[in-house]
Amino acid sequence: MKILAIESSCDETAAAVVEDGRKVLSDVVASQIEIHRRFGGVVPEIASRNHTLAIDNVVGEALKNAGCGREEIDAVAVTYGAGLLGALLVGVNYAKGLAYAWKKPLYAVSHVKGHLAANYIDSGLEPPYLCLLASGGHTAVLQVADYEDTVLIGQSRDDAAGEAFDKVARVLGLPYPGGPEIQKLALDGSPVYKMPLPVFKEGGEINFSYSGLKTFVINLVHGMEQRGEEIPRADIAASFQECAVEQLFRATECAAARTGMKKVAIAGGVSANARLRERMADWGKRTGVEIYYPKLRYCTDNAAMIGAAAYYLIRSGEAPAGFGLDAKATVGL
Ligand code: KG4
Ligand code: ZN
Repeated sequence: MKILAIESSCDETAAAVVEDGRKVLSDVVASQIEIHRRFGGVVPEIASRNHTLAIDNVVGEALKNAGCGREEIDAVAVTYGAGLLGALLVGVNYAKGLAYAWKKPLYAVSHVKGHLAANYIDSGLEPPYLCLLASGGHTAVLQVADYEDTVLIGQSRDDAAGEAFDKVARVLGLPYPGGPEIQKLALDGSPVYKMPLPVFKEGGEINFSYSGLKTFVINLVHGMEQRGEEIPRADIAASFQECAVEQLFRATECAAARTGMKKVAIAGGVSANARLRERMADWGKRTGVEIYYPKLRYCTDNAAMIGAAAYYLIRSGEAPAGFGLDAKATVGL
């Protein structure tokens, strides 16, 4: 089954053709990062307009790169949420028009499920497994019992991990998006600052919290600025990264112990983080837990992951979406 997938939830206009959920025939991403960088983050109105400008070319290129004509496409899939409403609507309406004109079934895919499905691309991962999802919008640990059967074990009470990376980067004077910049700067520093880490109580809830850590860094930097001190940016970046990763790791370790899961996948933009990957890999080596990571290009937003998720959604017997399909700013985990 060949699925043409479209993604426009934030600042990447993306289209891909994916065969049977695991084989990517084409994967096109038009990033708006450079456009939003000068504003220090994504400006929703500007994102929607740029999706409108890019989407037709992006879809055309995805079909051309896959060597597919409309007759070979079995279904059209699109991200309907979570994300920026105006941005999502561009992809949703384009997909509706295409599905109508081409007489193909249209499927509505959750962006979150897409991030999880990034781990199926070119891999042998199959449920059941545990997934740590860490992106700019979500931080959660989920038990994936089956492709369409996930149980939320814990999530952030406040900010998402990626959001904390972005905000800390901004206070350190680094450009958007902050995650890769912090990772780079941290290489020149050491994690010498002790930063706040939530404690998991035996048998208690598994939650994440990033707002305290973010505020700690902001106050630390502002205090140094007020005292006229030079800011040890690399040491602060390394300390923040260490603490942010430690929290992700501990929650995952705790969830694995409780569920008895021996397969763990990480997903979402923050799963591109080298320190997180290293921490997970060490744990895997020590304990025999199998660790799965998406290829770097499938960690951040893309449409190949939406095509992969759509395949399993269709296989589960999901009915196609009607042409009344709406976009949603939030979707359940
Ligand atoms: O999954 P994603 O592309 O978009 C959302 O669905 O939110 O995630 C974007 C987030 C941003 O906050 C970005 O700073 C973070 O992922 N990110 C990283 C890295 N690469 C991207 N965070 C830490 N380390 C990285 N290497
Ligand atoms: Zn995303």
